[in-house]
Amino acid sequence: MSIKQVLQQPEIGAKITVKGWVRSFRSNRFIALNDGSCLANMQCVIDFEKEDEKQLKRVTTGSCLAITGVLTESKGKGQTVEVIVEGFEVLGDAPVDEYPLQPKKHSLEFLREIAHLRPRTNTFGAVFRLRHALSFAIHSYFNKEGFFNWHSPIITGSDAEGAGEMFRVSTLPNGTDKDSSEDFFGKETHLTVSGQLEGELGAMGLGKVYTFGPTFRAENSNTTRHLAEFWMVEPEMAFHDLEMNIDLAEDFLKHTLSYVLEHCRADLEFLDARFADEQKGKPTIERADQGLIEKLESVVHNDFIRLSYTEAIDILRNSKPNKKKKFKYPITDWGIDLQSEHERFLVEKHFKAPVVIYDYPANIKAFYMRLNDDGKTVRAMDVLFPGIGEIAGGSQREERYDVLKEKVAAVGIPEEELWWYLETRKFGTCIHSGFGLGFERLVLFATGMGNIRDVIPFPRTPGSANF
Ligand code: 4AD
Ligand code: MG
Repeated sequence: MSIKQVLQQPEIGAKITVKGWVRSFRSNRFIALNDGSCLANMQCVIDFEKEDEKQLKRVTTGSCLAITGVLTESKGKGQTVEVIVEGFEVLGDAPVDEYPLQPKKHSLEFLREIAHLRPRTNTFGAVFRLRHALSFAIHSYFNKEGFFNWHSPIITGSDAEGAGEMFRVSTLPNGTDKDSSEDFFGKETHLTVSGQLEGELGAMGLGKVYTFGPTFRAENSNTTRHLAEFWMVEPEMAFHDLEMNIDLAEDFLKHTLSYVLEHCRADLEFLDARFADEQKGKPTIERADQGLIEKLESVVHNDFIRLSYTEAIDILRNSKPNKKKKFKYPITDWGIDLQSEHERFLVEKHFKAPVVIYDYPANIKAFYMRLNDDGKTVRAMDVLFPGIGEIAGGSQREERYDVLKEKVAAVGIPEEELWWYLETRKFGTCIHSGFGLGFERLVLFATGMGNIRDVIPFPRTPGSANF
């Protein structure tokens, strides 16, 4: 039985066996056992006088035990029930002088170096249980809304997205003078940066699809928001215009966050306290005005602000930090790309709410976005979240064959590479839209963690691919 099951329906007086890892062993008497099923430990009370001394010595922080005993109401503070130990078996030792995780506070940086062991801490247990719950909520949301889970390929033969630098996939030996026609696939191939283009092909037959898979970007971005390997959720819907796309993104984000508010209470309360504690160490101006749970609730219960790129530029141009030259990238002319400092100003200072910006200048966005009648903006949208910046981005897609063909040519993609994409516009084209959500950015937001490397089990970043 898992500790979670025992605690949910405690059968006082029952003889049970629990298996897990020792978090601490106090006074030769109290073992705090954690099995990862939930945040709570099971307190196991041992009568050391009755136990073999040699076996007792093996009960150390990090060791793995199977404990059998009787579930009893606890008189102690901090738990309602405990196990009175009748017998235990050491399944795996953890030598005290070598085991790096001791019952004390370790820095997140240190824990990143021992990412193989960090799932055994309260913080990472909570983060990864929440990551699972968000993933489950995403699948259940789309299933309920009539979407089909669509598996886009991970190895791609087209460099179409233009979303960033790609990793090459090849079986040719190093230093070979053979060209890519002799390579495994007979052409140059890469790890995908997005499943969108193939997602669109699915939507044009199945109506509503979503991908949820790993994506790869070889950009040298060493920030707390970027990974070289991250998971992306990409819904794509036929017969949806941009407004319907934004409505879906808002409803979807609210649904997944309210799911964890409802189902992950203990972990969220733990992370909420961790977040509050972390804020205390920050200078006053950098401190968040809301606690973690409060922040999640406010996102779930309030409308997202929606404004066009042009309106956003006006607000930013007239803003205090712009006038006082506080932005690293001053807002000058219409047409410039928004930097994260601008996004954060809008979300955290000006509106104090999630913001959706739409109708961006065509030349700062991807070729497949639908051109507006003004000829200079496209039906793009970005969802910006407090403390995160861009959490999702998408668009209504260009469905007109001639316009798309022209745009493909203008960005210099050979038509032979995208013939299949263009054919969906030639045969039975229709208005359609979609967006991509960076899953780790959602986990970051929901857990209140400060660094994206701490919300994926084994982060891949420039110069680092350990474990
Ligand atoms: O804005 P992006 O590049 O958009 C696309 O790839 C589109 N094809 C999506 C679509 O319309 N179907 O990426 C989408 C999201 C971003 O909003 C961000 O949350 C996340 O993916 N993202 C990253 N997350 C972690 N590390 C990175 N290096 C990321 N790059 C983008
Ligand atoms: Mg984007």
